[in-house]
Order: sequence, then C-alpha cells, then structure tokens
Amino acid sequence: MFSEPLTIADLQRRAKWRVPKMFYDYADSGAWTESTYRANESDFGKVKLRQRVLVDMTNRSLETTMIGEKVSMPVALAPTGLCGMQHADGEILAAQAAEAAGVPFTLSTMSVCSIEDVAEHTTKPFWFQLYVMKDRDFVGNLIDRAKATGCSALVLTLDLQILGQRHKDLINGLSTPPKFTPKHVWQVATRPFWALEMLQTKRHTFRNIAGHAKGVSDLSSLSVWTAEQFDPKLSWDDVVWIKERWGGKLILKGILDAEDAKMAARTGADAIIVSNHGGRQLDGARSSISVLPEIVDAVGSEIEIHMDGGIRSGQDVLKAKALGAQGVYIGRPFLYGLGAMGKKGVTRALDIIRKELDTTMALCGERNINEIGHQIIAKADFD
Ligand SMILES: Cc1cc2nc3c(=O)[nH]c(=O)nc-3n(C[C@H](O)[C@H](O)[C@H](O)COP(=O)(O)O)c2cc1C
Repeated sequence: MFSEPLTIADLQRRAKWRVPKMFYDYADSGAWTESTYRANESDFGKVKLRQRVLVDMTNRSLETTMIGEKVSMPVALAPTGLCGMQHADGEILAAQAAEAAGVPFTLSTMSVCSIEDVAEHTTKPFWFQLYVMKDRDFVGNLIDRAKATGCSALVLTLDLQILGQRHKDLINGLSTPPKFTPKHVWQVATRPFWALEMLQTKRHTFRNIAGHAKGVSDLSSLSVWTAEQFDPKLSWDDVVWIKERWGGKLILKGILDAEDAKMAARTGADAIIVSNHGGRQLDGARSSISVLPEIVDAVGSEIEIHMDGGIRSGQDVLKAKALGAQGVYIGRPFLYGLGAMGKKGVTRALDIIRKELDTTMALCGERNINEIGHQIIAKADFD
C-alpha cells in the first residue's frame, strides 16, 4: 500500500494512516491559525544554497559536538509530550533509535514512559526536558530523578508558562488514555495495528507525574493537576535555582528574541535553543530560522546556539548550521517515523535526514560539517 519511505513526508502519510486521529492531529498542529507552524517550514525554502563543482568530495564527516557531547550529526530528538501515544512505548523506542544513531534523545516531562522507564531500556545517558510546575517540590524531585538516572543535560523549557490553544485538540477531545466516547472508540478501532500494540504495554499515562505529584491518585485528578500546574510566574530567578539544583549541563529552550537571548546568556547556561515550540505557542511569532541570524549576532560569541522548528530534511539542517546553529532538534519528523513504523521509523527518519545532509554538503563543495558557515549560502535571488 505504501512504497518505501524516502522522505519525511512519506513517513507522515504513513503515520496518519496508522495513528488514531486525535494523536496524529496532536502532532500535526500549531496554535490558532497555525501561521507560525507553517512559516517554520516554508521559511527554510527562502534560504538558497551555493552549488559548487570540481571540489574534492571524498572523506566527508558529519560528526560534531552539541554541548561538548560527541554526536554523529548535529541533530537531536526534540522533547515531545505523549510520544507513547504515537506508538506503544514510544519514548523508549525513540531513545533506543537515537542511541543507535549516535544522536541525543530528549525526554519530555509530559512523556508517557517515565525517566526511569527510558533509563532501564537504554545504555547511554539521554537528556531530560523540564517544565516548571507550580508545585516546586515536584519540580525539585523531578530534577533529582533525572540526575539519579544519569541524564547528561537538562533542557529547561521557557516558552510554556501558559498553554497556547490548538483548535484540533479541543475538537478531538484529546486525552491520555483516550476516553470511551463513541467518537474516540471509533478512532481507535479504525487503527487496529496501533491498538493491538497499545494493548500489550502497561504504559498509557503521564508516568513522570502519576504517583509522584501530590494529590494525583487517579486519571481524572492527573488531568486536572496537569492543566493547572504550568507556572505563569516562572522567572529568570527560577532559572538560577534550577541550575543550582541540577548542577550539570543546562540548555534553555524557547528563545526567539535577541533581548531574551542576552538574558539567557547571562545565566551561565551551556546552550540556548532558538525555538517557538514548533508553532504551538505564540501564533504570529516569527519562524525560528528567520530569527536565528539575529540571535547569533547578539550572543553567538557567548553561548552555544541550537535551533528547532520546521526542519523536514537534511538540507534544512545544513541551512541552520550555515546560519550559525551548532545543532538542531527535530520534533515532528521523528514523531511521524515513530507513528508510521515504531523504532524502525525513527531510525528511518534519522537515516533520511543524514543522507540528505551528507549529499547536500558535498554538492555545496564541503566535506566537514564543522566548517559549514555562510560560505554555502547563496545571495538571495531578487535582492
Ligand atoms: C506533539 C508535540 C509535543 C511537544 N511537546 C513538547 C514538550 O513536552 N516539551 C517541550 O519543550 N517541547 C515540546 N514540543 C516542541 C518540540 O520540542 C520542538 O520545539 C518542536 O517540535 C520543533 O518543531 P518541529 O516539530 O517542526 O521539528 C512538542 C512538539 C510537538 C510537535
């Protein structure tokens, strides 16, 4: 029915066929009109590359570092909530695929599989993403759990003090696990492969939270707790105590403004991620790739800069690298792979991106990812 997936879009089509609508839509959506979600992707098309010829293209290398960790290419898996609803045990499978590919995996606070679940099923340290909740005891405890399981970086998300609205989630009545209304039962029943795999795992809810947060004893108290707990008062002072409590490598995620980037650099964090949360928070904000050069100008000499949002190919990775990102993160590309084919699909997504990155680098006349910069960007066509 489907031919071999050759692009991330091929994986996306398969995921749509295999994953119940409410969870597929949860991934493939942005806030309100989705204008920022779309711009993240389409703005990459405005960046043009220089084609070079008769340059030695042998012995190419994509190997580099992100926050000092060796990576086989400058691509990490972004933290995404509810991976375990794209595919049973999704976080474990994605972490294993990332480990095998030699790239970092970032586990979300809002994951289905817990930090301990993922640690038990992997052999190398992964990164943990923290949402700051009002219940600071819970937050402190979460940081300690990430430390205890050997996570090698904490990714602190700054752009979700309150939740942006995604219309599709409201219309679909998204919940974890799915509710038993006729609409939801139909959505699950029409995705039998997904459902059969889901029946074979015990991991169906937010396992970083259930059993760890005060007053959360059952599923209905969990959903109330989660909705109420994001902290609208989160401030730069909180970054200081989190950094201290954690004591390891810290990455600040969700910077989209040069002023904020300067504040972030002053915290002494190890890196920032230029990000608008994949267009899921402030609709109408600029695309990540269009903001990246300004932020590199503002703080590039002080702090390592990463970016995410809209990367759908290895070409996009190369463009971000050329504009000053030391590394990038992919969210939906690996979620589509996961939904389409489980662990094999995440591996496929990473292979597709790696191949495109390598070939593009060669055709731009370059052999080493660490030497990529503005020299590969073509002058705009119609200045
Ligand atoms: C389904 C989904 C869930 C997400 N959940 C989280 C999350 O729990 N924490 C977080 O910091 N970012 C979250 N994000 C944002 C991603 O980390 C990342 O910024 C974004 O996906 C990058 O854009 P891309 O999907 O176009 O690659 C989520 C994104 C998606 C698509």
